[in-house]
Amino acid sequence: MKALQIGDLTVPVPIVQGGMGIGVSLSGLASAVANQGGIGVISSVGIGMSYESKGKYSRKSNLEGFIREIRKAKELAPNGILGANIMLAITDFDDMFKAALDEKLDIVFVGAGLLIKKPETVTMDEFVNSKTKIVPKISSARAADLTFRVWAKNFGRVPDAVVVEGSKAGGHLGFKKEELTGKTKSLIEIVGETKEVLKKYEDEFGRKIPVIAGGGIYTGEDMYETMKAGADAVKVGTRFVTTYECDADMNFKMQYLEASKPEDVIIIDSPVGLPGRAINNKFLQQIAAGEKKPVSCSWQCLKGCDYRKIPYCIAEALFNAAKGNLERGFAFAGSNGYRATKIETVEEVFDDLIAGYYNSSDVEIEEFAEVA
Ligand SMILES: Cc1cc2nc3c(=O)[nH]c(=O)nc-3n(C[C@H](O)[C@H](O)[C@H](O)COP(=O)(O)O)c2cc1C
Repeated sequence: MKALQIGDLTVPVPIVQGGMGIGVSLSGLASAVANQGGIGVISSVGIGMSYESKGKYSRKSNLEGFIREIRKAKELAPNGILGANIMLAITDFDDMFKAALDEKLDIVFVGAGLLIKKPETVTMDEFVNSKTKIVPKISSARAADLTFRVWAKNFGRVPDAVVVEGSKAGGHLGFKKEELTGKTKSLIEIVGETKEVLKKYEDEFGRKIPVIAGGGIYTGEDMYETMKAGADAVKVGTRFVTTYECDADMNFKMQYLEASKPEDVIIIDSPVGLPGRAINNKFLQQIAAGEKKPVSCSWQCLKGCDYRKIPYCIAEALFNAAKGNLERGFAFAGSNGYRATKIETVEEVFDDLIAGYYNSSDVEIEEFAEVA
């Protein structure tokens, strides 16, 4: 197992924790992962809700909450590698992006849209010469090609790495609902196609563009297979939810422990206009039956959202769930969301992933002992 190298940034263990909103991966989980040698990721979406009551939730509290969580994570993991996940679909994307650069995070992951425009809050110089690594999340080689082509043409550079997310991931998904219920390309296929596309940019810019692959990676065996197929690192979300350090309430984690079969994890139509994957519960059954929940919107946090037309506020539902109120919310989860049978420490998850990786490979046991 090789360290993940992103330009001048060396990540000792090639495991990236997926950013999980709202309030599921904050400074607690991110710092624990960073302290194990992976990349710990704070999810920026709706972060202000953890700092202010719903009525007062605002763009300002979001930004302040984000900065506070970054600083807390840095205190808890002073030598670790820390990043944030920022979604293009949120209205304060530009504010959050600037804060990530100003706070000198090591890396920023950008998903829920294609990052093909410079955020207005940063200058071209800050964007192009950013010390913070900028990594888009895509779900197809085509999206990678488009993103890299626009960057090469408009910014004279390409992203520092790319996250390839397959259809088994949790949260909002970059696939159409028909693709998710029918046959979709496997993560390994998308990794192969993306690497093929990236070759020309690696040649043009004379550097390696690491591929971080995620969606359905739960064991060290999964990690080994994905890296054997060419990924330089894996991104893991669901497996980290059932850890003590995960920032969500124990009731949220209990949804994972109580789910016991694949059918307990379902595809939903999110009010965001994208499909999502979540653990089925009473709240989701009520929504599926046509029930509407009262929506009180203190500010428009999501681009394109019209609160008068949606059956429920997704930000509120996800926040309620993370705080343990599953009567008024639900838990996002990847397709493996039913597999956990106990709560573990982040260290135990790392040990298990690394041991499983080496068990699957033909590395001699002495070499394994050295790494482990
Ligand atoms: C509870 C939960 C919340 C998530 N929230 C977000 C999010 O806010 N933004 C995002 O880009 N991805 C989100 N994701 C996706 C993860 O960052 C990660 O890429 C994905 O879950 C990886 O697949 P896995 O869960 O099968 O390991 C979420 C996933 C989960 C399980």
